[in-house]
Amino acid sequence: MTEALKNLAFDFAPLLAANLPPGAARWTGAAKYNFTGGNNDGDAVPVDGLIAAATASLKREGRNLATYNLATGPQGYRPLREFLVGKLKRDAAIDCTADDILLVSGSLQALDLVNQVLLTRGDTVICEQDTYQGTLTRFARLGVKAIGIPLDREGLRMDALAAALADCKARGVQVKMIYTIPTVQNPTATIMPEARRGELLRLAEQYGVAVFEDDCYADLIWDGKRPPSLYAMSRTHNVIHCGSFSKSIAPALRVGFLVAPWTIMSRMMPLKTDAGSGALEQMVLAEFCTQHFATHVPKLTRGLRLKLETLMDALAEQFGTAAEFADPKGGIFLWVKLPDAVDTQKLAHASLASGVAINPGPEWSTDKSYSKSRMRLCFASPSHEEIRQGVAALAEVCRREFGVPARIANVEQRARA
Ligand SMILES: Cc1ncc(COP(=O)(O)O)c(C=O)c1O
Repeated sequence: MTEALKNLAFDFAPLLAANLPPGAARWTGAAKYNFTGGNNDGDAVPVDGLIAAATASLKREGRNLATYNLATGPQGYRPLREFLVGKLKRDAAIDCTADDILLVSGSLQALDLVNQVLLTRGDTVICEQDTYQGTLTRFARLGVKAIGIPLDREGLRMDALAAALADCKARGVQVKMIYTIPTVQNPTATIMPEARRGELLRLAEQYGVAVFEDDCYADLIWDGKRPPSLYAMSRTHNVIHCGSFSKSIAPALRVGFLVAPWTIMSRMMPLKTDAGSGALEQMVLAEFCTQHFATHVPKLTRGLRLKLETLMDALAEQFGTAAEFADPKGGIFLWVKLPDAVDTQKLAHASLASGVAINPGPEWSTDKSYSKSRMRLCFASPSHEEIRQGVAALAEVCRREFGVPARIANVEQRARA
């Protein structure tokens, strides 16, 4: 736009609604070595299967696109919900019917619906201390206080959860919900064992708190074994469960799902005001998944495991003992601890200039000082070669900025004075 045109441009600023979040920056393209976001492996998208599924379902039922929700009701395309009934029973031990499932536009819409139906400005919620950034930004925007509970290798620590609930009660604060990612947690990749799930539910019941179980990574476990979901284990039906096809098939499809008792489902549905999520995606997924989901997922996870091994090898080679991490049992992320001297927000800024994008820990945590020297790396979307080159470039920037690692690729470096 020229200067003259700029001066003529309408000024929206005085008309903007109150309390908007800050404006978005324009997208300037992805980094050459992109370890950010929850992107998946492009080579693992079952393109041929999706083409066949799209052709078959469109030929058979394409004319139903003329009707909102494909004429199968406001909860979404029924054959996809029927597929989920079987899948959730097999994998997560959930006994539900298609009427307990609402198809949504990615699990992000599930987060919005659950937040909207349960939370009011000033409310208190509990979540894992290190958790999904999209959840933390939503809580902040809603003006909700999020109490972060530290994790160990088995997820949310029950001693800390019990103490936080007791403390809130003593202060007269009713905790509204516990938001948790118990199965391949983001970013720590921990899987909460069954006994601990039982303890979490016992505490939630004791304090009259709802549980929101975000299970979007649950399909991506190397050995395919997982504990029953919190939803399945709850005796009092105080759990809302959400999942997604973003991680098992492709995030750009934007198809997720909520499972909830009708008492709360009926309160969420009026808040889903988009007249249904994308119907074509739902048709294609139903067609593809009923035939191929069970064989597609192990193929996907085998590839992800190999990429994780490349990442762990590259970190060991480039950072040596300076990079600490556990070996995840699934997922697409590695949560890495660097020495205390490293500020990963500064590192992320500096490394971007060298074409390496990382997620700095503080954006993924309620405890900014604990997470200051931690970072989250997504290993699903870069190629093996990009993982190796990207980690080498990151180590170079980190050494230049923070003197860490002192040795790179087993060659001693002179730390910055
Ligand atoms: C824990 C968690 N929940 C929800 C989402 C949103 O996923 P989607 O809306 O693509 O299903 C993500 C995305 O990375 C996530 O990590």
